[in-house]
Amino acid sequence: MRQPLVAGNWKMNGSRASIKVLLDGLKSGVGSVKVAEVAVCAPAIYLPDVQAQLQGTAIAWGGQDLSTEASGAFTGEIAASMLLDFGCKYVIVGHSERREYHQESDLMVAGKFAAARAAGLIPILCVGETLEEREQGITEDVVARQLDAVIKLEGVAALADGVLAYEPVWAIGTGLTATPEQAQDVHAFLRTRVAGHDADVADGLRILYGGSMKPGNAAELLAKADIDGGLIGGASLKAEDFLGICTAANG
Ligand code: 13P
Repeated sequence: MRQPLVAGNWKMNGSRASIKVLLDGLKSGVGSVKVAEVAVCAPAIYLPDVQAQLQGTAIAWGGQDLSTEASGAFTGEIAASMLLDFGCKYVIVGHSERREYHQESDLMVAGKFAAARAAGLIPILCVGETLEEREQGITEDVVARQLDAVIKLEGVAALADGVLAYEPVWAIGTGLTATPEQAQDVHAFLRTRVAGHDADVADGLRILYGGSMKPGNAAELLAKADIDGGLIGGASLKAEDFLGICTAANG
């Protein structure tokens, strides 16, 4: 049985003050989350605050990006070891906003996956197509290419140390959610593709959905056979909304 994971991606939002309020809310409500594992991925500069506030709670935390390199002359970058230094369990790699605004290639994302894994962090690998790609009917080609880059670099067994997230770019921050059927189709495609290499890895792999997931649509998405949780942007910034999604996994 795959334990669902609901992870918040705060993106570039918040302040020390607002994060305190958010985490107080999450801590007081997380007891009602019976089934899912809960995590928040914070802006790196706030990780010391997040660690101080979440240490010893049921909520895990992580970063939103990391360097492919272990250390050295890489101004502005953050190494896996630094995330670990602040107690991170997870790190997002290959978010579509990084792929688009920072020109991260499939190969670079695979390198980030490898760097996270080598350090003992759990990478959350994001894949997903743009609206144009969906309309061209090449959704499966796109997500396969993004997934295959990691399998090629690291081998399929590496996926046992990570989490996959399907985030259709057209659903991110737009209020447009993939229908449960649309999401399930892509999740099933991804799992089958992994199974083509290793059935056990595919069976154990958690595949999250991300893209305008909210308390009101989470239950029907999470009910699908191959949707093992969510990667939540906007709705992770309000404790009530985020907890609403986390409890939707209770069934
Ligand atoms: P929204 O939930 O705001 O659509 O963002 C999804 C996302 O990009 C999570 O990584």
